[in-house]
Amino acid sequence: MSVAPKRILVLHGPNLNLLGVREPGVYGSTTLEGINSALSALARELEVELKTLQSNSEGALVDAIQEAMGDCQGILINPAAYTHTSVAIRDAVAATALPTVEVHLSNIHAREAFRTHSYLAPIAVGQICGFGPESYLLGLRALVSVLEK
Ligand code: DQA
Repeated sequence: MSVAPKRILVLHGPNLNLLGVREPGVYGSTTLEGINSALSALARELEVELKTLQSNSEGALVDAIQEAMGDCQGILINPAAYTHTSVAIRDAVAATALPTVEVHLSNIHAREAFRTHSYLAPIAVGQICGFGPESYLLGLRALVSVLEK
């Protein structure tokens, strides 16, 4: 009997559609498309399915998180600026009770003080930051290993 592959919701928050152009000194030159294709290649290797969305809107991200209930087994998210402001995204993730890994391209702890606080981190399985696009790949590996336990 074949087992259905695990599905993971991958969410990219505001302004991440501008990766490659946006502050390359901070965020590097890889585009969002580049990150998504690296994630797809890793997902094939790990035998999981990804459902991917980028949105600049907090409500659209909350809707996607709610829709993951009953559809996905885990969430990989870079909430971008909403990391530091959004109780709504935290509450939506908590409502799903799905294992969630928070990722950031930059090391948010080595930047402005306001970036060091994450509303999501206390309810996430963990946070990976500072490795550029590799943060997403490390995050996906970490999430899949949690799901396999
Ligand atoms: C970011 C860090 C956030 O502080 C910032 O608002 C972003 C991107 C990162 O991936 O490094 O938009 O989440």
